[in-house]
Formats: sequence, C-alpha cells, structure tokens
Amino acid sequence: MTVAILYGGKSSEHEVSLVSATGVVRNINREKYNVVLIGISRDGRWFKAPDDELNRVITNEKATLRVYEEDENLVTLCPAQGMNAFICGSKSLRADVVFPVVHGQFCEDGTLQGLLDICDIPYVGCGCMASGVTMDKEKTKAVWHDAGLPVVPYIVMTRTDLGDSKKYDVVFEKAIKELGLPLFVKPCNAGSSVGASKATSPKEFSMAFLDAFNYDNKVLIEKAVNAREIECSVTGISTCEVEDQPCSLCKAYIPGEIIPSHTFYDYDAKYNDPDGAALKIPANLNEAEIKNIQDLAVKAYRAVDASGLSRVDFFIDKDDGTIYLNEINTLPGFTPISMFPKMCEASGLKYADCIEYLLDEAVAKYKFKMQLLTTK
Ligand SMILES: Nc1ncnc2c1ncn2[C@@H]1O[C@H](COP(=O)(O)OP(=O)(O)OP(=O)(O)O)[C@@H](O)[C@H]1O
Ligand SMILES: [Mg+2]
Repeated sequence: MTVAILYGGKSSEHEVSLVSATGVVRNINREKYNVVLIGISRDGRWFKAPDDELNRVITNEKATLRVYEEDENLVTLCPAQGMNAFICGSKSLRADVVFPVVHGQFCEDGTLQGLLDICDIPYVGCGCMASGVTMDKEKTKAVWHDAGLPVVPYIVMTRTDLGDSKKYDVVFEKAIKELGLPLFVKPCNAGSSVGASKATSPKEFSMAFLDAFNYDNKVLIEKAVNAREIECSVTGISTCEVEDQPCSLCKAYIPGEIIPSHTFYDYDAKYNDPDGAALKIPANLNEAEIKNIQDLAVKAYRAVDASGLSRVDFFIDKDDGTIYLNEINTLPGFTPISMFPKMCEASGLKYADCIEYLLDEAVAKYKFKMQLLTTK
C-alpha cells in the first residue's frame, strides 16, 4: 500500500508540521507501506520530494523534512481520480491513502479535506465538516452546548456587532454582568494562543479586545477560568462505529496535563520559553476523574462527527473542580514527543502502531463512504 505523506503547508504551523511528518516518516512501517513525500510550500504549492529525501531523514537523526520548490516536481490534483489523483510532470503519483501531517489554516480547517474528497482519495483525520466546525471556537461551543456538554460561559462579538461604535466599555460592562471577572478574550479562528489574553480592567479589556480583532472578525469573551489544563487523545469513526472494525470504535486514551509557568498557556510558553510549561502524562487525576474526562472526550468527539484522531482539551477549575471542554484539535501536533501520540502511548499504543492504526482507520472510513449511493 502506498501512503502519501503531506507536510508543510500555508499555515503558521508549517515548521511544526515538518517535525511531525519527519517523526511519521521515520517510524512508519516501511515493510508494509511504500511512502510518497509531498511537501506543501508556505504559499500553498505542492511538490513531490526528491527521491533521496526519505533516505536523508531516515539516516540522519538530526535532519528534518524540507519542502523543495522545484518546478519539475510540482504536484497538481485531478478531481475524482482516486489513487491516481496526484499528478507530477506527466505521470500520476500513485497513492492509496493520504496522511496529512499538517496543522492549522488550509490544513486542519476543512479546506484540504474538501480537496481530498473532491479527488476521491482516503485520508487520515476528520472530514470537511468536522474539520471546519472545530476550527471555529464559537461554532464548536454551540454544538457542544447543544449536546449538553459543559463549555466555559461566553459571549461572542463580531465586527458587525461592534459597528463603528468602538464602545468597548459598554461591551466590558455587558461581559462582566454576564460572565463576572476576570475575563478571557480570544479570536474564534486562530491557534497557538495568538490574540488571546486575560483582562480584569476596562483598559486591559480594550487592549485584549482590539488585539483579538487583529486576528479574526469574530471574538470570544469567556469567563477566565483558574484552570488546570487537561488533554485527552481520541480515535475512531464517530458516524460508523462497528464492532468488527475495532479501529472504528471511538476510544479515549490516558489524559495528560499541561502545567504552564506563565499566567496562561500563551504563545511564548508554547514556542519560545523552554520552561514555559511542564507536560505530565498521565495527568494527576484519580480513576473516577480519568473516566469522567475520557467519557466527555468521546462525547465531545462524537458531537462534532469527528473521525481519525483528535486531541480534546479541557479546563478543570482549580477553585471549584468544574470541568469544561475548551477545544478540539483535529490534526494535533504529531511529533514523537507531542501530547497526542504520547497519551496514546500511555495507553499502550506505540507511535509506530498509532500511525498504522490511523491509516487503517482512514481506509475503513473510505470503505464506509464507498458504500453510500450518490444518486437515486
Ligand atoms: N476561558 C479561559 N480561561 C482561562 N484561560 C484560558 C481560557 N481560554 C483560553 N485560556 C488559555 O489560553 C490558552 C489558549 O487558548 P485556546 O486553547 O482556546 O486557544 P488556541 O490559541 O487555539 O490554542 P491551540 O494552539 O491549542 O489551538 C489555553 O491553553 C489557556 O491557557
Ligand atoms: Mg489550545
């Protein structure tokens, strides 16, 4: 079976993707799978990697995959061609399944998934709708709330709501009336904590609010939770769980915890400060708490019709123990030391086996899809 591994991407998480994909390339069972490498440049073009790229990263443990922007290796896509959908030069690049080891915008938000659906090729991860909905924090919260799942109380403001008024003090008053203090402000569609901040005074709030609007036209104002940050990996095919296909069953793994040393898990704690956060797997929770988190993680996963893999992130209020769902990442960091694979490993699913499991799941999901009629 030939696996096309996609990496890079027109996303702020381009670099992380290169590291994640390098981990996958080094650990995929090459006796079972033939690997085709396709790098996506920062401006969104697709390129087949030179023939020796695979060998370069396998033989040199310090090497990381690169995207080589060579015109003769430009990849184009052909709708509805399935395993022959990728074309390089005059030849098709055969791929039986795609593993998009990419994150963020144009990668994790449903756009790539839509493209792969149009090509009619199986791929790892959520479909177009689940990817799109979960990229938007407000829409995700609305779906979870509707499913009776606990979300942090919030209000949402669009640029339209705000109009030309710039009456931030009015919004601040409304927010503290509904949510109390302190408040947390963040863009609805962003990641890596950009544009996210805590606010306790009208001045801090105006600054936080303005900053969040730099990144999105829709901003969430939440109650700021004095939070423990718990994460949980989930796999499975929400809409097609069948007993005789174990990989289709939605399953939550051992939860982990992020313990930031900053006021919250901000951009610097994530990427710049080596001591910005401690990662703890398993999280320090008792058996009943673990079971509760896992049940909620699976419910949250199913509520958005997720499939493939996701990392479901929670807050536990340190003051009163309330559990809240924060967000779901449908293509979470996948380096060998990332939370998603590490939490799977804590439950006995090793990194290499996890890759195989996700590929099996992608193929199973595609088979379910192929059984559906597209005309009467
Ligand atoms: N309501 C809240 N109360 C307290 N802290 C919060 C709240 N919302 C977010 N945070 C803090 O901000 C961080 C980033 O928020 P969130 O995870 O919602 O956004 P993100 O930018 O999408 O992050 P990611 O890169 O994980 O996708 C959280 O990990 C947490 O530390
Ligand atoms: Mg987050």
